[in-house]
Amino acid sequence: MGAVLEIRDLHVSIEDQEILKGLSLAVDKGEIHALMGPNGSGKSTLAYSLLGHPNYEITSGDILYRGESVLDMDTDERSRAGMFLAFQYPVSIPGVSVANFLRMALNARISDNGNGNGRGRKGISIPKFRKLLKAKMALLEMDPSFAGRYLNEGFSGGEKKRAEILQMAVLEPNIAVLDETDSGLDIDALRIVANGVKTLAGPDMGVLVITHYQRLLNYIKPDFVHVMLSGRIVESGGPDLALRLEAKGYDWVREKHKNGGA
Ligand SMILES: Nc1ncnc2c1ncn2[C@@H]1O[C@H](COP(=O)(O)OP(=O)(O)OP(=O)(O)O)[C@@H](O)[C@H]1O
Ligand SMILES: [Mg+2]
Repeated sequence: MGAVLEIRDLHVSIEDQEILKGLSLAVDKGEIHALMGPNGSGKSTLAYSLLGHPNYEITSGDILYRGESVLDMDTDERSRAGMFLAFQYPVSIPGVSVANFLRMALNARISDNGNGNGRGRKGISIPKFRKLLKAKMALLEMDPSFAGRYLNEGFSGGEKKRAEILQMAVLEPNIAVLDETDSGLDIDALRIVANGVKTLAGPDMGVLVITHYQRLLNYIKPDFVHVMLSGRIVESGGPDLALRLEAKGYDWVREKHKNGGA
């Protein structure tokens, strides 16, 4: 089997305007890829397209998850199959506690996967779930009272981001796409979240982190760094590429690729 996620020459339009213009990328299990690029280059568009958001029309190309195209699967199916997206702007679900939300999400994923992880088709028992949640919250250094709060309601920006990472920790997806999960995190939370991602990534999980900040990558230590410009990946390299962007900005990338962009 090839990469856990493979994006092949993807073209995506929003309201008949082409935003992604032939993007290819492969993420394997255990790999952390960072995706950078100026505002409006199409990073969130890619994230939404991966999870099948209805506003994003895939006009050509393909998205393969574990070797099979997901284009015919809706968002829910993709997420139950083990694809995970942490949004740039998480929504709140009033009246549903963090713990209940996570248990429902986990049970939906388990019932789809048969008895993976020995949890059985009926889903995870409440005591087992509590134990799991406690361990994952400890990993992310979260206050236990957090679990009882309504999802994202009144959460600070940083708390929302942590709740997203907790969701990832509990669901154990095969591929996680984190769209600016670092924005709004204080310095300690950034380190905790980054270490959490690093701990959770691999050997079974591949990660695509979208970020503007090299600082996050100091902690996460990605295997690959990609730069997007006008709907395409125009540069790929190792962590040194992020350092170069931090030092020099995007002008040299724009200059180098000015004939390839829109
Ligand atoms: N619903 C929409 N209608 C029209 N244009 C849109 C829509 N959604 C996104 N776009 C455009 O698509 C382009 C890419 O947006 P996207 O949100 O993917 O950028 P991004 O790389 O995530 O930027 P940022 O770094 O600011 O988060 C932008 O020019 C944006 O204005
Ligand atoms: Mg974005």
